[in-house]
Order: sequence, then C-alpha cells, then structure tokens
Amino acid sequence: MDIKCTDRELFLFKKIATASQELGVASYLIGGFVRDKIIGRPTKDADIVCLGDGIELAHAVANRFNPVPTVAFFKTFGTAQIKLSDLEVEFVGARKESYSRDSRKPEVAPGSLEDDQNRRDFTINALAISLNRENYGTLIDPFNGLGDIEAKIIQTPLAPDQTFSDDPLRMMRAIRFATQLNFTIAEATFTSICNNAQRIKIVSQERITDELNKIMLSPKPSLGWDLLYKSGLLQIIFPQMVDLQGAEYIDGMGHKDNFYHTLQVIDNVAEHSNDLWLRWAALLHDIGKPPTKRFEEGHGWTFHGHEVVGGRMVPKIFSRLKLPMNEKMRFVQKLVELHLRPISLTKENITDSAIRRLLFDAGEDIEALMILCKADITSKNKYKVRRFLQNYELVAARLEQVEESDRIRNWQPPITGEIIMQTFGLTPGKQVGIIKDAIREAILDGVIANNYEAAHAYMVEQAAALNLKPLQ
Ligand code: CTP
Repeated sequence: MDIKCTDRELFLFKKIATASQELGVASYLIGGFVRDKIIGRPTKDADIVCLGDGIELAHAVANRFNPVPTVAFFKTFGTAQIKLSDLEVEFVGARKESYSRDSRKPEVAPGSLEDDQNRRDFTINALAISLNRENYGTLIDPFNGLGDIEAKIIQTPLAPDQTFSDDPLRMMRAIRFATQLNFTIAEATFTSICNNAQRIKIVSQERITDELNKIMLSPKPSLGWDLLYKSGLLQIIFPQMVDLQGAEYIDGMGHKDNFYHTLQVIDNVAEHSNDLWLRWAALLHDIGKPPTKRFEEGHGWTFHGHEVVGGRMVPKIFSRLKLPMNEKMRFVQKLVELHLRPISLTKENITDSAIRRLLFDAGEDIEALMILCKADITSKNKYKVRRFLQNYELVAARLEQVEESDRIRNWQPPITGEIIMQTFGLTPGKQVGIIKDAIREAILDGVIANNYEAAHAYMVEQAAALNLKPLQ
C-alpha cells in the first residue's frame, strides 16, 4: 500500500517489525492511523495489533530505543502505550469480543486478525497493514474499506444491528465520521442507527458529548446535527434542540423552522471561526424560542424575550450535556443573551450611549458577538441579506469609533466601591451598590463625563439623595 509516512514513522514501524519477528508474533498497523494516512488527514496515534501479548511486544519495542521510553500498560485490558515525542503508539493483542445487552464492557478473548477486524466499528476503520517480513506493507482489507474511502461511505463490517448493539457509542461515531469526512452513511447502516437509537442511553454522557464536540469542530457541523435529528438520537440526547424544529401556521401566517435556521447559523459561524464555544453559542442562540413562542392576533408569531429565556437555559443544558460549567459556559450564555442587541443598533438615530452600553456588556467578546449576529442572517432574499450586512458594517464602524474615543471594552468606572466606602464611612452593603451602579449608568448614558472628577461629584450628589454626607 502506498501511503505517505514520515521517516520517523517508518523507522518506528521497522523496529516494531523486528521486535515482533524476534518474539515470533505477527503484528499489524490498524484502525484510525491507516484510515487517516489513506485519506491524507493528519494522524495522531498509531494502533498496533499483534497475535500475542501486546504488553510484551511494547516492552520489546521500547528496549530497541535509547534512551528506553516508558511503557504505560494496563494489565486488565492487555494494552500498552509508548510515547515517542510527537508519536503515540498503542499495542494490543488481537481479540474477539462478546457483549452483554446492557453494557459497553465486552468479554474479551484472544483472537485472530480477522476476529479483531470483525469487531471494529466501520469498514474504513478495519483496515490493517502488515508489519511482517513475508508481506511487509501489504494492506489487509477484508471489508473493502479502501473502496468505501473512495466512495466516501460509512458502513459497518458486520450486520449493523450487531455492531451498534455491541457498542451504541458507534452510532454517534458513524455520524461524527460522516460529518468530519463529509461521507455518506450507507442506507442499511443508517436504518440500523434509527432502529437502535434508544440504546444510546447506556452510553456515558461524557462520551456522547465528546462526539458532539467533534461534530461541532467539523467544517460543516450542520451535517451531523441533521443526521442526529433524522436518526432519532437527538430526541434522546438533546430534546430541547428538537423542539426548535418545524413551522406552525395560523391564519396563513407562519414562522421559519428554527431548527434548520440554527443549523445554517452554525455553518455560517464555522466559516469564520474555529472557536468551539462560539459554535455552541450559535447552536443555542435561539434555544429560548420554543418556550416563548406566541401567536399575536393580526400580528403573527413572536418570540419575545427568547434571548433572556435562552440565556437561562444555557447552564441547564451545559450541566445536562456535561459541558464545562465555567467561563466557557458564561461566554455562551452572554452571547445568547446579547444576540439581538447589535441588530437593534442598526436602526437610525442610535445614540453613542446605546453603542457604549453594548461595548460594556459584551466587553472583550464583542467580535465574537458580531460574528454570531452576521451568521444569524439566513434570509433567502439576497437583497435583504446584503442590506442587513451593510447595516452591520455601519454598526461595526460605530462600535470602533466609540471604543476609540471612550475605551469601554475593558473599562471600569473611575470610582470604585472602595472609594465610596471610604468617602462616606460605609461598610459593604446595598447603598454602596446603588451609588456605584448610578455612576456607571450615568457615564454609559453620557450624562456625565468619563473621568474621576465628574464621577466624584456625581457620587456626592447621588449619596446626598440617600442622606449620606462625605466624612470630613
Ligand atoms: N473502535 C471501534 N469502536 C469504538 C471505538 C473504536 O471499533 N467504539 C476501533 C476502530 O477501529 C478505531 C479504533 O478502534 O479506528 C481506534 O479508535 P479511536 O482512537 O477511538 O478512533 P479513531 O478511529 O482513531 O478516530 P479518532 O481519533 O478521530 O477518534
């Protein structure tokens, strides 16, 4: 097989070949490494399967290097790992597996190469390359994985019901590979995913979410989300997303299908940013629409306050999906809450204070917010799209102008809570907050200038209204 390996990789494979030969065990490169080399994708780790003891082979290989690299091994699984600077190699003995119905943990027994290839998830992942003297470098491809790579097809080597029932995570993997590689899932394989969707319930949330993140980071994430929806998996793993689907009509008045709108927004964002969390913000930007949907007589459909309700849903969704409950979550929440703000600034006669307020609220995430808002324009009417985009250019220019003169993005008001407490002899409490907020609002609204003297005078004035006098 003619695949492009680096000199370091070839050097390593020769060492594995000689070590295997000395031990008298056959060994093969297998799985994702072979697949990605054929496709021409960057590879990370190489899996070696041998007809014998994987841990013993790993030690024999390690001993051929100077200095000898550490072998990390897991006796219970019979696997071993060697890290060689940028290359990570995993060794395992070929095995056959049998699964019980309610667990992803298989019963494992030693097997032949064929047994090992049979138990793999997809034909494109079951390709092996011999590292043995008699046929070194030969591709061993019992399921025509090579043909499936050429035809861009994901399918299971065995009957799909068995492959998915053995390990239901593979349903997510099928969709993830189809999305990453822009491959089609074979009909029988996809039908089986639909039939086995309920089995996803035995898979841990962390693994499901790992796959969701990989879908999110693909060039066109909508492919994966659409397949998740059509297979019935989405209904089980993320029902709030499914609620976005469909358009309702009353008196001939309808609204857009918010599910497909959302998918287009993610793809639009993906064209401009690789940031996983900005892509999640795109996915969730309208998540508050189903619970806020109303039909107003004579007016049509409204989703008033969906950005606020959506913002409140973000922590619950992150928690359920076991996404991180940290500043990433708060970033997504903030963007969901603010996603309508820039559009409200495209109207005429917008004051500097409205611009300042957005700069203050968005802070350093203003660029991300603008990417999301532009991506949110999904009208089919080209004229409309152009007009909206031009309006955004104007808003962007105003944002830049105001930021240039007022430096609001990372701004803190010139009077701190500390100064307020010292000036009036206060301890931390409600009054300090009231005065502090009043100063901030006055500056953002342009009522007073953004400097210490003006803010100090305003502080004294506001405090007087609360019957507070400066200490002498
Ligand atoms: N595999 C499998 N079923 C799974 C997971 C993995 O059959 N649920 C097999 C596949 O043959 C796969 C190999 O184990 O190619 C290695 O798995 P992994 O490292 O998880 O995936 P890769 O295929 O290497 O792809 P990626 O690194 O993108 O996840």
